Amino acid sequence: MLVKLDDRLKAVADLVLPGKTAADIGTDHNYLPVFLVQNNICEHVIASDRADGPYRNAASLVKRLALEDKIKVRLGEGLEVLNPGEAATIIIAGMGGRLMIDILAAAPAILTAADRLVLQPQKDLPAVRCWLADHRWSIVKETMALDSGIYYTALAAEHGQMKLSQDEIDFGPCLIAEHPQLWIDYLQLRLEDIEQLVAKLAQHDSGEIRRRQQSLQQERKRIIDLLARATVDDK
Ligand SMILES: C[S@@+](CC[C@H](N)C(=O)[O-])C[C@H]1O[C@@H](n2cnc3c(N)ncnc32)[C@H](O)[C@@H]1O
Repeated sequence: MLVKLDDRLKAVADLVLPGKTAADIGTDHNYLPVFLVQNNICEHVIASDRADGPYRNAASLVKRLALEDKIKVRLGEGLEVLNPGEAATIIIAGMGGRLMIDILAAAPAILTAADRLVLQPQKDLPAVRCWLADHRWSIVKETMALDSGIYYTALAAEHGQMKLSQDEIDFGPCLIAEHPQLWIDYLQLRLEDIEQLVAKLAQHDSGEIRRRQQSLQQERKRIIDLLARATVDDK
């Protein structure tokens, strides 16, 4: 059986360093590690999860596909399952950004020995970008995927200095520079959401609502400016 990935996980797979061992932390179903070895992107992958059910499912998939010599399945918390230098790419996908930060912050020695982090936070992406900048990781690539009507961002970071503007923190340094069509679509959708929200809030009046309206209007202006810059760049 060949595993096919949805567009969200395919975006993550595309950022993995080819030819080097990867670790997928919080693997759950284990589709990503299986995809990486079946497509010869990685010869070896470590797949881990802290929960017993996902760990057992992951192990049984590996057994069913006879991939035991290529995928090692481990049960444990975060990066504790790894020894320093075991994995060149550390992947964490499909969980909240704050949880990701906790996992990364708990294991500095493992991070020092890794070459690349591949992260796909479901939320709190700006906090993840700030954490990376504060801990000497530099974002080298960002991609977006649209899956079942939801936009996802995946990023790759490598050791290095990175200074981010507020726009880059919120909307992605590489996404701003490269402005791929999915990112533009996402910003346009966000603009529509903001306009609807502002119209809804206009029916109410309080100090808090006025502050919320102000912050939405500021976000609206920043998005309009980013879209205008992307259009100018493409000319
Ligand atoms: C929503 S699933 C995401 C699965 C897969 N990575 C994906 O993107 O489709 C999150 C998985 O992460 C695991 N998980 C959450 N926190 C973890 C931690 N601190 N260490 C290891 N696994 C964790 C959960 O048990 C769960 O199986």
